[in-house]
Amino acid sequence: MTLHRAIAIDGPAASGKSTLARILSQRLGLIMVNSGAMYRAVTWKVLQLGIDPADRAAVVAALRNMDVQCGVDGLDSTVSIDGIDPGEALRSEEVNAAVSAVSAVPEVRECLVSLQRDYLKLGDVVMEGRDIGSVVFPETPYKIYMDADPLVRASRREEVGEVDSVAARDKADSGRATAPLKIADGAAVLDTSGHSIESGVEAALAILAGQGFEMPAA
Ligand code: DC
Repeated sequence: MTLHRAIAIDGPAASGKSTLARILSQRLGLIMVNSGAMYRAVTWKVLQLGIDPADRAAVVAALRNMDVQCGVDGLDSTVSIDGIDPGEALRSEEVNAAVSAVSAVPEVRECLVSLQRDYLKLGDVVMEGRDIGSVVFPETPYKIYMDADPLVRASRREEVGEVDSVAARDKADSGRATAPLKIADGAAVLDTSGHSIESGVEAALAILAGQGFEMPAA
């Protein structure tokens, strides 16, 4: 089976990962995988079941009974749980508040990392998350760690009307025992605080070219 190329984009909440990944996907024809949506989908189901997200044993028991399906729609990743795509609910205040606890559970990570790696069977991917360069695809040479000033990141969430304690999530995501958010070996750091979207994309393309990523012919 041919294994394809993976571009890993990691960074804290609202650092610009999704925006960059989407544009790279469109410009380079890559499948875009939003790994956070997968953690959010499991969290959504945990909440639907009335389970306390901090109760690890209960989360693991629920996970064992979940049918987590990941796929693609065009170049976009899709996720459904027991046949349901949670859609907008993935970004609800409740999911924002619970997702760090659920994603710190090693069994949840093991299950989702396996599904994330499966995407490489389908084609070249750009995948964004917290541990893509460190755990999911440690061997890929194409890695970017995105960052931005915490105030800039908090205001990005507010601008889209989302209630999200960005700082609290970052603390939990960086401090957990399994696969914490960190700069992966070999990753180039891109701080988007002073960048427009376009200049951030240009900087990312320059980084990828420097890492040896061959761009498709225009
Ligand atoms: O990228 P996001 O903000 O939608 O991610 C939501 C949460 O999912 C994030 O706070 C931590 C978790 N996550 C993770 O632990 N590992 C990933 N690769 C992606 C997300």
